[in-house]
Parts: sequence; structure tokens; C-alpha cells
Amino acid sequence: MEACNHVFYRNLRKIYPVADRAEGVYIWDTDGKQYIDGSGGACVVSIGHCVPEILNAMQTQFKRVPFVHSSHFTNPAACELGDLLHQMAPDESLTRTYFLSGGSEAVESAVKLVRQYWREAGQPDKYKVISRWSSFHGNTTGALALGGHTARRSHYMPIFQHTPHIEPAYCYRCGFKETPETCDLQCADELERCIKHEGPDSVGAFIAEPVVGATAGAVVPKDGYWQRIRQICNQYDIKLIADEVMTGIGRCGRNFGIDLWGVVPDLIVMAKGLSSGYTPLGAVMVKDDIHETIKNGSGVFVHGHTYGQNPLSTAIGAAVLRYIQENALVERSRNMGAYLMDKLGDLSALDIVGDIRGQGLFAGIELVRDKASHAWFDRDLKINIQVASQAFQRGLITYPGSGGVDGIHGDHILLAPPFTIDEEQIDTMVDMLKRAIRAVENQL
Ligand SMILES: Cc1ncc(COP(=O)(O)O)c(C=O)c1O
Repeated sequence: MEACNHVFYRNLRKIYPVADRAEGVYIWDTDGKQYIDGSGGACVVSIGHCVPEILNAMQTQFKRVPFVHSSHFTNPAACELGDLLHQMAPDESLTRTYFLSGGSEAVESAVKLVRQYWREAGQPDKYKVISRWSSFHGNTTGALALGGHTARRSHYMPIFQHTPHIEPAYCYRCGFKETPETCDLQCADELERCIKHEGPDSVGAFIAEPVVGATAGAVVPKDGYWQRIRQICNQYDIKLIADEVMTGIGRCGRNFGIDLWGVVPDLIVMAKGLSSGYTPLGAVMVKDDIHETIKNGSGVFVHGHTYGQNPLSTAIGAAVLRYIQENALVERSRNMGAYLMDKLGDLSALDIVGDIRGQGLFAGIELVRDKASHAWFDRDLKINIQVASQAFQRGLITYPGSGGVDGIHGDHILLAPPFTIDEEQIDTMVDMLKRAIRAVENQL
């Protein structure tokens, strides 16, 4: 089958293969070519493709009630998913979850929730949201403004609201010229500096990814970073929003990425793995005080989307979480992640592999021009895309990204396979990636 003529594609010049079927960690195109889904799409597919239990849940919900509007009804699927998420949460104080259709919508909703909370808490001037450079929070204009990917932001700057950004916690490229041994978490202290400059009474929240995904490639902060961030947020009475769209629901080998450091955020944003890609689904989980303040104040969150709390989507989300629990897939992500990181160590001998990092089945490989100085490639070379297309040709799907250095430069490859992947499939995946990188090196 030819790609069709009436779809507006993401890349208008690219000829995309046509996806035909998928199962487990594999996808096949209409020419019969097999691909290992080494990145779960864009870090989405956590339980594997075409799991029958999810189809059953989908059909059951479809036969009962596929759609009702959240202004008219609640539904048992949303209630079950809320309960399951409460059980998985870092702390029992995170009591309520607001359901949406994806990550960007969930980020926007979290920001609006915080804004409304502060108004109803009698502090309407606390409206600013601080975020970090080299981060990604979505492509809607509010979320893109919060993100720190300069190349993506630059197209839309004139229509953004200005928001403050601080340095990322990026040890391989420390903005403070420290090493992990000498570092005193200056990148965390920068939040305090920024709050003071902006005026603590004007800052409502800080948002960040526990482990940075799309813009920097599984960048894990130094231990202590998140604890310091939490302490600063407490000190200045600022809500902490963990953007767990990539890192949540087991991806980092814990229920949520932030669990790696035992920190409790005030809001958690999630999507992707929440439905493992079986349906568009996002969510914001909030601490009880946020819910109670609005409940006892105006009583209404001045917000809403047509597909919020969608019965079919929440039934699928609940089935995915049940499947994860019944098959101990969070633990599997942790164990297989350790195996993957060990195997990826083989790539460190390659000339252009500068850093390999990650947590659980969430791994980043940073590509550099010079390993000693960490010098990056010219952006025009699009080394990340070259490696990803070499891998794709060989039947391995990866998620290439850029912008870690300064929002524009810096190349990486993200791997985030389904948690059901086995050791042999990991070996094949790493071997394919190695060959792909070698092929690019040979052309330089
Ligand atoms: C951390 C993070 N937040 C938000 C988003 C936006 O999610 P969506 O693409 O579902 O709108 C993404 C997407 O990659 C993400 O990685």
C-alpha cells in the first residue's frame, strides 16, 4: 500500500513505511519487514503490542458505555484507574487524578490547576511557573513555552508567555563546570536564586522531568538533586510538578521516576505509558490540599476537555495498570534495564559515543564529535537522525533527539523498549544499534 495523499504528515517530504501489524516488541510493515520497537514509539509502549487482556477490557467497556461527557457522568473505569494510581503514587497524600487525552494537555492542566489553587488559597500573585532549559513538556504553546528546547521554541516565541528557566541537572555537561565529585548541587540551588530574583510571592510552581527525556536523552540527576529541589519548594511555598509523561508508570524501574529519590511532588503529570499507547490518555494527579482548596473554594476547576475522563480510555488505562501489576512489569523494567545498561556498555568503545546513561528501560546514548572534550557535532549533520535511520534500515526503531547542549546542539538516541523485552531481544537490539553507529562513523 502507498502512503495516502490526504493525510498531513509530520515530515512532509518523508516517505513513511506503512505499519501493518504488531505483537509484543515487534512491528511489521506492509512489505513484511520486521522492526524491534526499541523505543516503544516515543517511549510509549510499555506492556508490548496487541496484548489480548487490553482488547478484552476495551470490548467490555465498549459494550457497556463507550462515551459519556464528564460534565454529565462519572464512570467505573475512571474510578478504578483513579484508585490504581492512588495505590501506585509516591505518597497517599496524592489522592485525586484528573484524566485527559495526552501529555501536553496534562501539563497545561497541571499549570492551570496550580494557578487556580493559588487564587483560591488567597495568593493570586503566585502565577509564575519556573522550568529548566533542555527540557520538554509538550508541543501545545503553553507547554512548549515551559520546555527548554530552543530549536523547537524559536518558531513560536512571539506567541509564548514568558516564563523563567533554570540550568538543567546535566552532569555530562555541567553548566557550573563541576564534576559529580566536586559538585554541591549548584543546579538545584539555582532554583532558589531564580525564585529570589522573580520574587517568591510571584512564583507558584516548578516543573521538571525527574529524568530528562526527549531533549537530552535519559539524563539522570545526581543523587540529592531532587531532595534539594523539594526542600527549596517547601521553603518558598511553591508547588512541585513532576512531569512523568516519559518516566512514569514503570519506565525507570519504579512506579514513578521521582520514586528513585523518595521525593513526593505536589502534582504528577503522566501520559504515554499510562495507556501503553492503546489509546490517547493523560492525567494529572494532585495532593489532597490542592483538591480540597478548590472544593472548599469555588468548587469547580475552570477547565475541561471533551475527552476528559473518557470511559473507553480510562478502561484501557486501568487494564494496562492491572496487567503491569499482575505481571510484575515495574520490577521487570528495573531488571531488564540493568541488563540493557550492561549491554550498552559495549558501545562506549565506539568513536562517537560520548555518554551512556539512564534508569530502568529508559536509556540515552549521547553522540559526540570528540570524546575527550565532549565536543558536539554540527547541527546540520543531524548525526542523531543518521544513526536512527541506519538503525531503522536494519529493523530497529529508536527515538533520536537533540538540544541537550544548548537547546539546539547535542545529539542523542533514546531507547525505551516494552518492559516485556527479553535478554535475547536486548542483545539483538544493542547489536543493531552498534552496527548503525559504526555505519555512520564510517561515513564521517
Ligand atoms: C516529559 C514530557 N512531557 C510532555 C510531553 C507531551 O506529551 P504529548 O506528546 O502526549 O502531548 C512529552 C512528550 O514527549 C514529554 O516527553
